[in-house]
Amino acid sequence: MSRIDLLLGQMTLTEKLGQLTMTAEGAAVTGPVSAAADLSEEIRRGAVGSMLNLYGAEHVRQRQRLAAEQSRLRIPLLVGLDILHGHRTLFPMPLAEACLFDPHAWELTAREAAREAARDGVAMTFAPMLDVSRDPRWGRGVEGPGEDPLVAMRFARAKVRGFQGTDQGTEQGTDQGTDLSGADTIGAVAKHLCGYGAVTAGREYASVDISERTLLEVHLPAFAAAVQAGVVAIMPAFIDLAGVPMTANASLLRGRLRGRLGFEGTIISDYNSIGELVQHGVAADLSEAAALALQAGVDIDMMAGAYLHGLPAALQRGAVGMELIDAAVRRVLRLKERLGLFEDPYRHCRSPEEPAALAHRRRLARQVASRAIVMLTNRADTLPLSPATRRLAVLGPLADASGEMRGPWWSAAGEQDCVTVLAGLRTALPGAQLLHVRGVPIEGTDDAGLAAALEVCGGADAILLCLGEAALMSGEAASRARLDLPGEQRRFAEAVLGRARALGKRVIVVLFAGRPLVVPWLAEQADALLAAWFLGSEAGNAVADVLIGRTSPSGRTAVTWARDAGQVPIYYAQRRGGRPADANDHYSSRYIDVPVQPLFPFGHGLGYARFTLSELQVSPAAVRPGDDIEARVTVVNEGARTAQETVFLFTHDRLASVARPTLELQDWARIELRAGERGTVVLRVAAEQLRFLGADLEPVFEAGELEILVGPCADRTRLLAASVRLIGS
Ligand code: NOJ
Repeated sequence: MSRIDLLLGQMTLTEKLGQLTMTAEGAAVTGPVSAAADLSEEIRRGAVGSMLNLYGAEHVRQRQRLAAEQSRLRIPLLVGLDILHGHRTLFPMPLAEACLFDPHAWELTAREAAREAARDGVAMTFAPMLDVSRDPRWGRGVEGPGEDPLVAMRFARAKVRGFQGTDQGTEQGTDQGTDLSGADTIGAVAKHLCGYGAVTAGREYASVDISERTLLEVHLPAFAAAVQAGVVAIMPAFIDLAGVPMTANASLLRGRLRGRLGFEGTIISDYNSIGELVQHGVAADLSEAAALALQAGVDIDMMAGAYLHGLPAALQRGAVGMELIDAAVRRVLRLKERLGLFEDPYRHCRSPEEPAALAHRRRLARQVASRAIVMLTNRADTLPLSPATRRLAVLGPLADASGEMRGPWWSAAGEQDCVTVLAGLRTALPGAQLLHVRGVPIEGTDDAGLAAALEVCGGADAILLCLGEAALMSGEAASRARLDLPGEQRRFAEAVLGRARALGKRVIVVLFAGRPLVVPWLAEQADALLAAWFLGSEAGNAVADVLIGRTSPSGRTAVTWARDAGQVPIYYAQRRGGRPADANDHYSSRYIDVPVQPLFPFGHGLGYARFTLSELQVSPAAVRPGDDIEARVTVVNEGARTAQETVFLFTHDRLASVARPTLELQDWARIELRAGERGTVVLRVAAEQLRFLGADLEPVFEAGELEILVGPCADRTRLLAASVRLIGS
């Protein structure tokens, strides 16, 4: 008999429901489970199977001992934590990392995050967050890979592999046979299934009402990729999809995820989201809510206490059967088994690492952070800073703000653990005098520092303005209706820009934010504008590396930048429509007051070199499903220094049974070239990838002409074009 059968045979109902219950200590909870401040007794009696928001080797060891040594069946606890972009060492926030367009780097940072977390008692991270986001009002875009489904799919695979150690997947889907008990691995939880990024009007937790096609084509593929990569768990989103809360969405969880995608792992609810089924208005009480969630396929109840307290009554009235509970318990025990917890419940509680390992991680953090920076503008080669810079004004509320550099999730990283821009510049420019004035706070009306900031401009060779959002102005529960700089920052920046203009000095702006802020005025007036998102532990060093030219910026924006909040949702993969935008045609798809074009297209990003692309060759001329398309393009570095270029391949199916977007990303590649060097970038598209959902929402491969568009970003005017013929099967 297997361990799981043996255990299941001995478990009381409370012990079973305990395995399905995840709670936290000392948290404000709505459910009754952790109403008790100290959970020791609950754990000992088997009423708690998993915990969240717990870390620290000794702390976890203490909790684990109660379960693994003092509970009747000695089933170890599962400890989960949100490790979005690092644990003690923070890498850039996921949206910033997405701008690297580098799956290898995405995997490496997850690997290192897992290493740190795994020593600190953590067995599972609630990551990767895979929500495609096309609306910058929504705060959570910063936690995910941006607007594009292909980027999200590659991000999903890389992150799952990084956290879980290796590629655990098989062709069929999750491989429940492989184990994850390697010393430095943790389980990954792909979240939030599905469509959360499309909340109505960008308002957090609001209802989502999108077509099934968009759900399947845009929001679901990343989850399918995570399943294929062997992700051990999935978290449904808080939201309802056209009235069906995801936590109770049997057709998506049981039907689509388990049925069609073959997911055999564990489904973990979001925080109290089973309890919130009552608030949604689909369950009368906690017991009904629990029954709905269990029927839909949710195995673990995070923080609602609904399973522990609601399922006994549901069982009694016949709303659920014991077989559903048993199946969920099996999946939870199987997860614990795969994570190696039965063999060694303390395997995640180890001594701190050697300083050498930490130093290696900091180096990686710095490298990735500098590559995540997107140089949006750079007039007259304002950047890199001249080596002759002797006096630099470093102004603005984000110049010396360590805590903010962490972004909206920081796991175990402390407020003072991140290098600020000011500190980074002090190290990078030891001979220069840095004239630092905060000027104004991030939010609020206090402008007492404005005069002092203007004052120092006079004596400076150049002016650096560090502006943007506070860390918690993005992330969960941080939707914004206004997408400009908060507080008095715009007034402050305009005053500094005006003074600089009068003095004939250049102004470089570094923008920290969890979203593409809508700042056309700034893009227009600043001499150089860098998007630095939230870069984590090494933020200041990374910014300094780019400013002084130690690194040529190579980040490319993974989201389209709006020029006006009225343009959102905005993304490159739009359909043409029957009356495509035409500046000369009044009756075309556009605004009468704002251009339709974004401020910066998806993929935009400058560097210190200049590249030209030419000689696009695509072969073969005709393909069938099963064939591969290969595109080759010549890239020449016409600049004066080594730099990296990213080349994107889009397709456009001009004539299909269902209208296709005018651009769809199919592949990308990066190339590094020395000054004057010429190279060839090869991009590949499997013809299979060109299947799309027909009118019946089933995949079809349609014969016809397909445009292949290759270039540096999603601006059609900058793409080289060729075509291939698709031959139907
Ligand atoms: C709520 C968030 O939506 C989710 O992403 C997170 O994993 C949980 N809280 C746990 O912190």
